[in-house]
Amino acid sequence: MRSIAGTLAAPFPYFGGKANACEAVWQAFGAVDNYVEPFAGSAAMLLGAPDGKRIATINDADGFVANFWRAIAQDPEAVAHHADWPCNEVDLFARHSWLVRQTQDLTTRLHADPDWFDAKIAGWWCWGACNWIGSGWCAGQGPWIHDGEKIVDSRQLPHLGNAGQGINRKLQHLSAGQGINRKLPHLSAGLGINRQLPHLGNAGKGHPRRAYIMEWFGKLHDRLRDVRVACGDWSRVVKDSVTTRHGLTGLFLDPPYTLGAMDYAAGGVGGDLAAEVRSWCAANGQDKLLRIVLCGHAGEHDALIDAGWHTRTWTARKGYALTDEAVANSASETLWCSPHCVPKVADNFDLFDMAD
Ligand SMILES: C[S@@+](CC[C@H](N)C(=O)[O-])C[C@H]1O[C@@H](n2cnc3c(N)ncnc32)[C@H](O)[C@@H]1O
Repeated sequence: MRSIAGTLAAPFPYFGGKANACEAVWQAFGAVDNYVEPFAGSAAMLLGAPDGKRIATINDADGFVANFWRAIAQDPEAVAHHADWPCNEVDLFARHSWLVRQTQDLTTRLHADPDWFDAKIAGWWCWGACNWIGSGWCAGQGPWIHDGEKIVDSRQLPHLGNAGQGINRKLQHLSAGQGINRKLPHLSAGLGINRQLPHLGNAGKGHPRRAYIMEWFGKLHDRLRDVRVACGDWSRVVKDSVTTRHGLTGLFLDPPYTLGAMDYAAGGVGGDLAAEVRSWCAANGQDKLLRIVLCGHAGEHDALIDAGWHTRTWTARKGYALTDEAVANSASETLWCSPHCVPKVADNFDLFDMAD
């Protein structure tokens, strides 16, 4: 339930997830009134925020991402119900095929109605992301590709190579006599206002994984409760109506990298987006009400340094990085911090001291 960085983890693996950068980024933001994350993905930076009162907005162009976070904010138990399913290859491809056919309608409905969400799409999307190997989950047309007259089977095996990821992770503490029992004190302390504890009080009923997922999603629900979730192009949420009108704003910009190999359902692979975001940063970095952190590989945004930006580094998990180039990229992760960010601090800085 906790990421490697010790913060609340997203329940699915995500290419380019920034959990390990949380400490460096929040040091650069300090105590802001408002937080905006236009390329949210797994929302690692939001989930890793220190406690404190602030307005928060996340956005992603991918409707599956936005629907997941909206559904978690409104009905975590229904999402958990749909996400709780064993790894089954035929289900993975059947569900993938069904999900990609929902894409267009999903985005339209998300845009048309601010209350609308689909818990089944959210749960299945999360479950599949945990079982799918590599990139491309819900990014294309499904596993059956039409090549002229032929239908090509492009399926790959689900994630069977280890004990699993995200919600499939090994329940390490159960054999040690902890697991769900260990969590009971938190539950009785009132976390997760809508959460029911269907099986925890009744030994022998239900599966511990269900309780584990329910509790995890309940915590995510608590975290997301007052966060505004948008779905669309990043440029819509960097306007002053979303940012500086709410006071001193931390703006975390993590677009697909120029040389990235990540095939996002929205935005695809690489492209000019990172350069567009850099241009926006160059034009807005001097605003005293903005503390901006932009992510990239070493050198990618060095053009900003002449305008008073400074860099910090962090190390990403290697994840699926198998090639030498991908491993080198994971070691060259860089953050460009705008001139009004908090200056770098000593190593023994306590991130949680700055909470209001
Ligand atoms: C590098 S990932 C962000 C990862 C995220 N920081 C995390 O910790 O999981 C980039 C994200 O940008 C989204 N994206 C791509 N093009 C976009 C656009 N034009 N506007 C908003 N989001 C976009 C992708 O769907 C993807 O989730």
